Amino acid sequence: HDLTAANTLGLPCVAEHFAAPASLDALQEALATARAHGWPLTLLGGGSNLILPERLTGLVIRPAMDRWWIEEGESEAVRVHAEAGVIWHELVMALAERGLWGTENLALIPGHCGAAPIQNIGAYGVELCEALEALQVVDLTDGRAAWMTPEECAFGYRDSVFKGRLAGRVVVTRLVLRLSRLAAPRLGYGDLAARVGVSPSPLEVAEAVCAIRRDKLPDPARLANAGSFFKNPLVSGAQAERLLAEYPSMPHFPQPDGRVKLAAGWLIDQCGLKGFREAHFGLHDRQALVLVHFGGGSAGELLVFAERVAGTVRERFGVSLEREPRLAGIPPG
Ligand code: EPU
Repeated sequence: HDLTAANTLGLPCVAEHFAAPASLDALQEALATARAHGWPLTLLGGGSNLILPERLTGLVIRPAMDRWWIEEGESEAVRVHAEAGVIWHELVMALAERGLWGTENLALIPGHCGAAPIQNIGAYGVELCEALEALQVVDLTDGRAAWMTPEECAFGYRDSVFKGRLAGRVVVTRLVLRLSRLAAPRLGYGDLAARVGVSPSPLEVAEAVCAIRRDKLPDPARLANAGSFFKNPLVSGAQAERLLAEYPSMPHFPQPDGRVKLAAGWLIDQCGLKGFREAHFGLHDRQALVLVHFGGGSAGELLVFAERVAGTVRERFGVSLEREPRLAGIPPG
């Protein structure tokens, strides 16, 4: 099964076996088949945050259950259920159109709902975990379904238990979100506030976020990419102060724990690498943090290119950049 079109980096990849279960039963059946054959498992969502190797042995599962519904209640809080295969952006827009607040800043993030909690998607000052009430997972080894609380998910910046202790152990099958009918605009990030009127609707905010993203981020359908390729690095307060003494205009975001988050895109840009291209890969000319694939390259070449970028930043600023998209087909740990 060819997965080249199923990953937004457009990396050539062939899976030995592939299943797109459209129900929990079908998913459990696929897991049982894999178990019976001893096939390794790889989970795929929208393929927008993944680096695929040229060959994946075993079974690749892309959950395809794609229903979502609103649980009506008396109060202003509204519960929304979304199955793993629902396209995140379509859900966000549908909720914003209904006047519901909570996910509008996360518009236009590519990918499926089932993948959203893995890296705790975030943008424009909001993270998924803030709107998440619970999620359903299925254990890959015994096929059993269970519910998890946000606390059990250990969410952090682009991080969760699904990247750590539970990596390769469960598949997320459903999200339960909590949204609100009461106006709660979050306009603190960048120039978002300037892009909407007074008392905006959630749809207006979502549309403003879409406009900003379209300005800066390449559309994967036209230029292959996986969004931000590196996480924004966290450095100690002392290191941030040293850097600020030398680069007073450096964007920096102090964290509650005393560390300071820096903008990886700015660091790369300062190294003169925005728009830099080498063979099949490059850095986007409007957002240096987005690694783009012009076609014809492989995962191995991509990693070499990415290491050159990270190495340049390390030499210049003494800051290490951590990759954001995950490598598929490599056992956790
Ligand atoms: N900057 C530059 N040059 C660049 C890129 C950025 O100078 O080439 C500067 C900007 O001017 C700004 C700062 O760096 O002062 C931050 O840039 P931006 O607002 O574009 O956001 P980011 O930190 O680069 C993060 C997320 C994005 C998310 C935006 C908005 C990460 C790794 N990335 O990017 O998420 O959309 O904030 O919230 O946290 C993604 O994860 O795939 C993603 C796109």
